[in-house]
Amino acid sequence: MKVWLDTAVLDEIREAVSWGVVRGVTTNPTHIANAGVTDFRAHILEIIEIVQGPVSVEVVSTDWQGMVREAEEIARWSPHVVVKIPTIIEGLKAMKIVKDFATINATLIFSPNQAYMAAAAGAHYVSPFVNRLDAIGHDGMQLVRDCLTIFRNYNWDREVVAASIRTSLQVYECLLAGSHIVTMPFSVLKGLMDHPMTEIGLKMFLDDWARVSAALGDALRGR
Ligand code: G3P
Repeated sequence: MKVWLDTAVLDEIREAVSWGVVRGVTTNPTHIANAGVTDFRAHILEIIEIVQGPVSVEVVSTDWQGMVREAEEIARWSPHVVVKIPTIIEGLKAMKIVKDFATINATLIFSPNQAYMAAAAGAHYVSPFVNRLDAIGHDGMQLVRDCLTIFRNYNWDREVVAASIRTSLQVYECLLAGSHIVTMPFSVLKGLMDHPMTEIGLKMFLDDWARVSAALGDALRGR
């Protein structure tokens, strides 16, 4: 499973990429607004420079012609750009055209049928929104599993991007389900490393080492 970061905050991306596990980034209009972006293109290019992998950039038109126009512009910025298109009927019309010149991430997917329709229209990535479904009493992870089953059933080379991730448990469930990709906020990624036993264990080791470091520490200092 590939890990992508769901943010447009450069410091978060820089930090997470330095951990060696982040392979891509997803942005959306909310992330762009929250990151206080002033130059859209320059900001996306900076993200690409840091992550050196696929970066999803969302169109904001609601008619297919506008979506295609935006996709043409965005796709020119870098081969790493993935055009994110909302899974509505106008979005399908746009996907049919955009697929011929750019890779598509179909966003705002809340049902297996929407995932099927987006993939059939040409989206390579489909993004089921896990937590937004959980939040209204549905099972977001079941949607991820259903998308995976659909692509397996028809031997499609599409990739499921589990999106709208808010908890470590959701990430764990994505791993067990075999999701191709999970995109998550920086706070969730960081939380994957939290374990009190690791902290306690490290403290014990270092306390014990402190008792002998005067005598043995030279070996670590190359003396
Ligand atoms: O970027 C798409 C998605 O992951 C955002 O979902 O629920 O975290 O706003 P949410």
